Amino acid sequence: MPYAELHLHLEGTLEPELAFQLAERNRVTLPWRDADDLRSRYDYGCLQDFLDIYYANMEVLRTAEDFADLTNAYLARAARAGVVRAEVFLDLQAHLARGIPAETVLGGVSEALRASEATHGVSSGLIITFLRHLPADDAEHAYDQALATGVELLGIGLCSSEVGFPAAPFAPLWERARADGLHTVAHAGEEGDASYVWDALRHLKVERIDHGIRAMEDPTLVAHLRDHRIPLTVCPLSNVRLKAVPDLAAHPLPAMLDAGLMVTVNSDDPAYFGGYLDDNIAAVRRQFDLTDAQLATLAANSFEASFLPPAEKARLLAEISSGPTAGRLGGDINGSAGSSRDSSPV
Ligand code: ADE
Ligand code: ZN
Repeated sequence: MPYAELHLHLEGTLEPELAFQLAERNRVTLPWRDADDLRSRYDYGCLQDFLDIYYANMEVLRTAEDFADLTNAYLARAARAGVVRAEVFLDLQAHLARGIPAETVLGGVSEALRASEATHGVSSGLIITFLRHLPADDAEHAYDQALATGVELLGIGLCSSEVGFPAAPFAPLWERARADGLHTVAHAGEEGDASYVWDALRHLKVERIDHGIRAMEDPTLVAHLRDHRIPLTVCPLSNVRLKAVPDLAAHPLPAMLDAGLMVTVNSDDPAYFGGYLDDNIAAVRRQFDLTDAQLATLAANSFEASFLPPAEKARLLAEISSGPTAGRLGGDINGSAGSSRDSSPV
C-alpha cells in the first residue's frame, strides 16, 4: 500500500553503523565504544533521555556529503517501506549551534531530496523544525539563515523538549512563515498534556499536530480536531519507546480512529525507536487486529494530510481506492480528496 510519511526527523534515521562510519570519516570521537554499545543505550525513561543521545550523535554530521548520505539512506529504506511521499523534518538550528553552516546542511539534504523522485520513487518536501527549548529569537535567526540559502522549503515545525516550553513565543515566526507561503506544523501532546495541543492550535495556528496522542484526554479538543479535520501524525513505536504510553496495547490509536480523527502512522526517529514506517504499521496491525479497511484509511489519511498539491493528492487517493481493498474503505477516503481543511479560529 503506498503511503506518505509526514513525521520523520532526518537526524533520527542515523543508524548506529552509519554514525560510526561518519565518525571515522570526519575524525569525530563518539562517547560510545561501538555501534552495539550505542544501541544498548536505546532504553529511554523519557523523551529527554532520547534527545540527549540524539543531539550527541549529530556531532558526526559535518559535511554536505554526510547530510546527503543520511538523507539517501532514509529515502532508500522508506521506499522499501512503501513510502511514495516524505515530508521530512530537519533540526537546522542544532547544526548551526555546532558551527555547521546552513549552506552545508541544507545543500546536502536538498541535493538528496531533489533527486528522490528519480532515485527512490519518493516525492519529498523539507520542513525545518525549530527547537522549543531554545529562545524564539534563536529560531528566527535560524529561519533567516535557511531562507538565505535559497533552498526550497515546504514548511516549519516545532520539536524537542515539550513540557515547560510554551509555544506562544514562537507565534511571530509561525506568522512570518505563513506569510512566506510555508506550511506550519508543531509537536504537541507527546509528553505534554492536551493544553499543549490547544496552545499549538491557538498560538501557532498549525495545519497538523505532530503526535497529539494526549489530546484524547480532552473531549472538547477531540471534537475540535475531528470537526476541523486537523491531522495528527502519530508515531506508535516512538510513543512506546519514550514511555508516552505504558505499552503498545495501551496506545490510543484505535480510539483515535474510532473518534473519527484524521490520524496517520509515522516512524519519528526510526533508527532510535526500533522501526521504520512499515514496522510501525505492522506493529499496530498485529496489536489491534486492524482491518484492511482501517489500514486503507490510514494510508488515505496520510495523503489527505500531506501538503501535496490537490491533483497529486487525488491521484494517490484514487490509487488506494482502486487497490485490493477498494469498496471496503472507511469514510475518510471518500469525499475528502482535494478538500481543504477548515482553519477556523480556536
Ligand atoms: N526531536 C526528534 N524526535 C523528537 C520527538 N519524538 N519529540 C520531540 N522532539 C523530537
Ligand atoms: Zn517527532
